[in-house]
Amino acid sequence: MEYSKSRLIIFLISVYFTCINGQDVCVKKGPCSCVFANGTGIDLAPTSKSTTFFTATNFATKMEGKQYELSTYYYHPCVDMLPPVNKTTANDTCDKALAICRHVSTFQLVNVTANDFHMDNAGISSYLGSVNDSTFSANGNSIIYKNPPSETIVLLVCAETDDQLHIDSLAEPDKLLLKFYSRAACLKTITNPDEGRSFGSTLLIIFFSLTIFYLVLGVCTKKFLMGATGIEVIPNLGFWSDLPNLVKDGWAFSIHGFKLPARGPGPVTSPDPNSYDSI
Ligand SMILES: *[C@@H]1O[C@H](CO)[C@@H](O)[C@H](O)[C@H]1NC(C)=O
Ligand SMILES: *[C@@H]1O[C@H](CO)[C@@H](O)[C@H](O)[C@H]1NC(C)=O
Ligand SMILES: *[C@@H]1O[C@H](CO)[C@@H](O)[C@H](O)[C@H]1NC(C)=O
Repeated sequence: MEYSKSRLIIFLISVYFTCINGQDVCVKKGPCSCVFANGTGIDLAPTSKSTTFFTATNFATKMEGKQYELSTYYYHPCVDMLPPVNKTTANDTCDKALAICRHVSTFQLVNVTANDFHMDNAGISSYLGSVNDSTFSANGNSIIYKNPPSETIVLLVCAETDDQLHIDSLAEPDKLLLKFYSRAACLKTITNPDEGRSFGSTLLIIFFSLTIFYLVLGVCTKKFLMGATGIEVIPNLGFWSDLPNLVKDGWAFSIHGFKLPARGPGPVTSPDPNSYDSI
């Protein structure tokens, strides 16, 4: 019984330290912004001034040069829009407001001597993601657009240029990599740092208020109801004198990835067997 309670306390302390340490994640704040705990982050909102899509194109020859493919990627980070492609067949899926679309046209070699290529048809457009299905990577360096079973990753590059879309890698058809160069992709102050920390500090305030309330109540109970004197008025004296060890265990526990560490030979168990049970 005593041991399981101390395990519980170790666990709570570890959770607390994990909360404190684990804040370096860029948390999505709006359709195209994320913010770190210190209040800095990425906000692509200035790119919504553009009423047209950012585009990037790629040429690929196929069938030993008898065919080539022209793909165009349309990207608009913050607001879904209807891309400038026409729905000609049921396979065309860009006929709704979206953030990323790909249009592929295929050209066939019709006359080798004249090197004459003819476009097959109007091409095929494919929906790749919308603003609502986007998430930021933890480090804030990219936005991931999910369109199961594939996803498109837009790497954000802080650049002092006009906003530009580039193709980074099409090697994996289910994991396309695009690159977006923009001033808006640079780290900047987004919120007041106090706001970012408010959850952690609220927890701390609640924790300390409860601790003080509990101590005062305990002291009064012991002093006036049980007639304790001197240092004995402190409730659960054994627990408090053992607290530094528990905190140490909690640290070791969270640092070692939440595996229970072997307890050292030190004075870990409390001299008073009732100390935990009386909490
Ligand atoms: C805020 O935190 C991020 C992520 O840890 C870091 O890259 C950035 O430099 C920090 N900004 C400031 C002003 O400390
Ligand atoms: C879509 O259709 C319109 C009208 O038929 C045409 O003017 C436009 O060029 C087409 N756009 C594309 C990308 O094919
Ligand atoms: C291919 O192009 C050459 C040169 O322009 C022309 O002389 C020939 O008639 C063309 N062949 C066909 C099958 O169209």
